[in-house]
Amino acid sequence: MKDLTILAIETSCDETSVAVVRNGREVLANTISTQIALHEQYGGVVPEIASRMHVEKINLVIKEALKTAGLALDDIDVVGVTYGPGLVGALLVGVMAAKSIAFAKSKPLVGVHHIEGHIAANYIAHPELEPPFLCLVVSGGHTHLVHVKDYTTYEIMGRTRDDAAGEAYDKVARAMSLSYPGGPKIDKLAKEGNKEAIKFPRAMQDGSYDFSFSGLKSAVLNYINGCKMKDEPINVADVAAAFQASVTDVLVGKTLQLAEEKNIPKIALAGGVAANQGLREAMQKACDEKGKKLYYPELILCTDNAAMIGCAAYYEYLKGTRADMSLNAVPNLPI
Ligand code: KG4
Ligand code: ZN
Repeated sequence: MKDLTILAIETSCDETSVAVVRNGREVLANTISTQIALHEQYGGVVPEIASRMHVEKINLVIKEALKTAGLALDDIDVVGVTYGPGLVGALLVGVMAAKSIAFAKSKPLVGVHHIEGHIAANYIAHPELEPPFLCLVVSGGHTHLVHVKDYTTYEIMGRTRDDAAGEAYDKVARAMSLSYPGGPKIDKLAKEGNKEAIKFPRAMQDGSYDFSFSGLKSAVLNYINGCKMKDEPINVADVAAAFQASVTDVLVGKTLQLAEEKNIPKIALAGGVAANQGLREAMQKACDEKGKKLYYPELILCTDNAAMIGCAAYYEYLKGTRADMSLNAVPNLPI
């Protein structure tokens, strides 16, 4: 089969990213312009600022990605773009850019689900990986246990009933006066803390595969407020370690329980929280004990990037998925 080169665009949140991906798994460029420093001062992503920054950066990032790949727009076979879920104004910038290129160059256009992209990051990191497998998708907006049946067929086996895992990390970090995004900071602090020092609840031990993190978040906030009221010092490293242990216990416990029940030998991690060292280690240990094979992408492919979108777009393209000029941003797109 002839090589297929995809230009992929991702602008669903606070990263303007453009990638060039060949045959789904070979990344020729993965350019990421992050807005983190800009949003940090507000304690989280400000949607209006995110959209404006995407508008400012998108053309530059497209040019940079093509330059890195050593290609011109005419060398591209297909344009892939995240069209949901995400911030509507942010998504629109990517969708408009993708539609413009597809229209001007008469190239096929493929709309990609952001979560499908996160899952596909594992194919880039592990060329030998093929479905079926079980994927724990943990990001700022999602906590899903997904049975990946083939490259484009998914069954959601469990989901969060309230906060996403990354959202819980960011909110707890904020309560500890750590800047956005809080996940990596808590991860780092947790290494220095004692996870046994404080006992936070393990949520949803009811046999279901759904998750809930709002109770844990409240427990941590109550603990911090209690210390402040009693004028007691807060050991932030212990809080981070105990919080992280509670999150990981539940994520690892439910994932392994489901993998055992369904007899699925392969487990993958995806999404921003898959960058978490504590989660990676705990999941690896549990997988080793149960004889499961664990996959996770390198750090840069865990958080938002367009290479993963290019990979997912490839498999959607092979299936026959095509979008036309009516493609729109869908902020709450279901998987
Ligand atoms: O996948 P992502 O880049 O964006 C969304 O699609 O949401 O995920 C961002 C989330 C943030 O909540 C961030 O705090 C979290 O991933 N995160 C982490 C780590 N690195 C990023 N959470 C825990 N530990 C980390 N090392
Ligand atoms: Zn994401």
